[in-house]
Amino acid sequence: MTLVNRETYREAMARFGAAVSIVTTDGAGGRFGFTASAVTSVTDDPPTLLVCVNRRNDSHPALMGNKVFCISTLAAGQEDISGVFGGKEATQKARFAVGAWHTLETGAPVLAGAVVSFDCRVVQITEIGTHSVVFGEVVAIEHGSAHDGLVYFGRAYHTLRRPTLP
Ligand SMILES: Cc1cc2nc3c(=O)[nH]c(=O)nc-3n(C[C@H](O)[C@H](O)[C@H](O)COP(=O)(O)O)c2cc1C
Repeated sequence: MTLVNRETYREAMARFGAAVSIVTTDGAGGRFGFTASAVTSVTDDPPTLLVCVNRRNDSHPALMGNKVFCISTLAAGQEDISGVFGGKEATQKARFAVGAWHTLETGAPVLAGAVVSFDCRVVQITEIGTHSVVFGEVVAIEHGSAHDGLVYFGRAYHTLRRPTLP
């Protein structure tokens, strides 16, 4: 058994494989985006997901103000985009220079080539520790043409092969 503290928890979570998404927002608060693995489905009635957002992220105030966001789940081969949106080095302008973007219902940017994208309106926010848990009602979905997915596991990216259905 391991003592539970911030470090041992982070180490344990490194063994928790997860899809990698780009979370974007746009509106009066400005256009922002960052990489997130803490995205989870909540319920299909009404279709709702959540994303856990560090309050220290530059994107946080914009997301709170715009009240809309899009989750673009990365495909195999989009690791570079995760890196650009997942660090503090690139400005928001430089981040959006990577990849091609369009919009669906809410105006939040949708990444071309993602495996799937969920366009959401914020319906609830819960604060816990360092993060805001942001619940979004999904108002539009886009299935990308990419075949294989991407997961982050053991602090590294791995391709997840999608079976070809008969
Ligand atoms: C693979 C990966 C997963 C991440 N998951 C999250 C997450 O779920 N929530 C979060 O707030 N930040 C997450 N981050 C960190 C943010 O992407 C990072 O802090 C980003 O620089 C924030 O940008 P901003 O401050 O410009 O908003 C993750 C980073 C990486 C590389």
